[in-house]
Amino acid sequence: MSYIATFRAVLTASVLLSSGQVAAADTSIDSLKAQYQRPESIPFPADNLYSAEKAQLGKMLFFDQRLSKNFNMTCATCHNPSLGWEDGVPGAFGGQGKFLDRHSPTILNMAWGDSFFWDGRSETLEEQVRGPVESANEMNISMAEVVERLSKVQAYQDMFRRVFPDSGISSNSVMKAIATYERTLVSGTAPFDRWVTGDEQAITESAKRGFEFFNNGAGCSDCHSGWNFSDNKFYDIGLASTDEGRKTVTGNDKDLKAFKTPGLRNIQQRAPYMHDGSMTTLDQVIVHYIAGGIPRASRSDKIKVRPMTAQQMQDLRSFLESLTGDDQPVSLPILPF
Ligand code: HEC
Ligand code: HEC
Repeated sequence: MSYIATFRAVLTASVLLSSGQVAAADTSIDSLKAQYQRPESIPFPADNLYSAEKAQLGKMLFFDQRLSKNFNMTCATCHNPSLGWEDGVPGAFGGQGKFLDRHSPTILNMAWGDSFFWDGRSETLEEQVRGPVESANEMNISMAEVVERLSKVQAYQDMFRRVFPDSGISSNSVMKAIATYERTLVSGTAPFDRWVTGDEQAITESAKRGFEFFNNGAGCSDCHSGWNFSDNKFYDIGLASTDEGRKTVTGNDKDLKAFKTPGLRNIQQRAPYMHDGSMTTLDQVIVHYIAGGIPRASRSDKIKVRPMTAQQMQDLRSFLESLTGDDQPVSLPILPF
């Protein structure tokens, strides 16, 4: 790990040199920056490779109300591109007019995830699709019925046949197409990224101090690490919620109230925060980490009381705000009937 970080730091330095700038003197900040560099390409799994037509088909399905029993919901109802691919409410508003216990997470940067849902109960993005479709409080329809409905549409039949010549329309091909579309949803380049690649003016001095403090002092990078600011692991950070979290998947007491570390890209657009949507502002989140939440056996030992000055709080917030990308508006697909 440290070898890779050093190697990348050297690379960053040589980029700076070749663009005619003076190499930064502070190598420690350079190697920190290198740990958060945007990846150059999106990873796709070998059993579900990318094609433009597959992603386009997945996009149509993502926005198609035929994937809900009463034709009243699409994936975008709760993962709305205008709300950071979330829905802006604490617990998602379910299909049968009931609020769910958990907050809709963003679906940006899913290509870098290695388990899905707040408790990680799905191992693949493909398998995850079945969850909301079949859940009684969400889209409330069986995958078999979705396949039946789509099969009645000639244009879908033709498209599925081209993209999945072996199976045509099937549960698996629906899940694969949607997962492929989701993997193409990557948060846009943020001021923070421009700073990381050498533009000193891209973010404020306060945001720069915030980045250092995030890594050295505030302990945030113990869990929010890598370019998407998530280690994809599970922790109890001491929230009041009664949700048992990861324990419902593993049955293990040490996973009680543990949830997956969320990425922090575009965080400013994604309030309210946490698995239960219990915090409405980034200041509330920071205050939570100062106090360390509720001390209990399951709480991660990386979470503790961490006093911060008002300046450090402000710096952390400026840094978090510098993670908002230049994401482009999403056009709605034209659906066949
Ligand atoms: C009624 C609102 C609702 C609808 C409709 C919905 N979702 Fe979600 N989605 C949620 C909630 C809430 C969670 C978190 C649930 C949990 O963790 O138990 C979630 C979680 C996810 C995740 C996991 C994200 C992560 O960080 O692990 C993905 C991916 C996802 N949804 C994709 C979809 C797709 C694809 C569809 C359409 C087939 C869809 N969702 C429909 C509310 C919704
Ligand atoms: C022990 C690991 C850990 C540490 C340390 C940590 N976090 Fe978190 N963070 C998490 C987890 C896990 C969640 C989700 C918790 C939940 O919903 O139950 C989270 C949630 C968040 C959220 C809300 C994200 C969202 O999509 O709702 C923000 C913002 C955040 N953390 C910022 C920070 C900052 C800033 C620090 C440092 C002061 C920090 N975190 C330290 C693990 C950690």
